[in-house]
Amino acid sequence: MMRGVIAVCGKGGVGKTSVSALLCRLLREEGDMKGLAVDADPSGGLALSLGMEPRWTVNDLRKEVIAAARERPTDSRDMAASIDYRLMESLGERGNLAFLAVGRPEEEGCYCQVNTFLREAIEALAGHFDLTVIDAEAGVEQVNRRVIRRVDLLLLVSDPTAKGVRVAESIRKVADEAMRYGRAALLINRARSREEAELLAGGTPLDLLGWLPEDPAIRDYDAEGRSLLELPESTPALRSLREVISGLR
Ligand SMILES: Nc1ncnc2c1ncn2[C@@H]1O[C@H](COP(=O)(O)OP(=O)(O)OP(=O)(O)O)[C@@H](O)[C@H]1O
Ligand SMILES: [Mg+2]
Repeated sequence: MMRGVIAVCGKGGVGKTSVSALLCRLLREEGDMKGLAVDADPSGGLALSLGMEPRWTVNDLRKEVIAAARERPTDSRDMAASIDYRLMESLGERGNLAFLAVGRPEEEGCYCQVNTFLREAIEALAGHFDLTVIDAEAGVEQVNRRVIRRVDLLLLVSDPTAKGVRVAESIRKVADEAMRYGRAALLINRARSREEAELLAGGTPLDLLGWLPEDPAIRDYDAEGRSLLELPESTPALRSLREVISGLR
């Protein structure tokens, strides 16, 4: 399985969280790898899809650091060190997978230094893992600027619609300006056939990485609130993703 950082982006509802969870499920098969799942969507769906919780979110930590700094002035090196430590402590854990959630930002005002320290701490944290999977917020606004500035794979998920593919194109444009990435590629989720995915890919400059079929198991697990980490090895979407990912280095 590839190593590095994968950011999973796309239009709302196309399957970003499911694909992120499936990537984590695949990582569970790699006994010698350690993975970090990052829920960068403030509405926090990945926690449910994995059945994992952080002890606190990055935003809880942000509030804590700001409150502490108001109480008494803190040397910035001490602040950075305590952020590193508290971030590490926040992680949910299950086997070879750790879980970090960004949470919902609610405070107005710019705490630029704190925000920078947080982002640097997340980047440093990701460096301790073989694979980091980021479930991004829907659409083009965020594209992980606050989370991580460089990713190895920008995985642009789309449903089999022209609209989904257009949003994927816009996200890549924003990413071209706002972040660095090794490779950007399109993954068509819920396609009916390779032909359908290839037809859609024919109308876009984006690289087609692959496609995933409609998988009733994903729907059933979601309906019952079960963790996708428990999906059987042979479920169709997981098999397709395994194949797609095995081609990556
Ligand atoms: N390959 C698939 N087969 C069947 N159902 C799927 C598949 N992919 C996603 N779904 C279903 O589609 C719905 C939306 O998926 P998901 O939550 O992963 O999308 P999302 O892009 O993360 O949405 P949001 O933008 O709201 O975060 C879920 O109910 C999920 O069960
Ligand atoms: Mg989601």
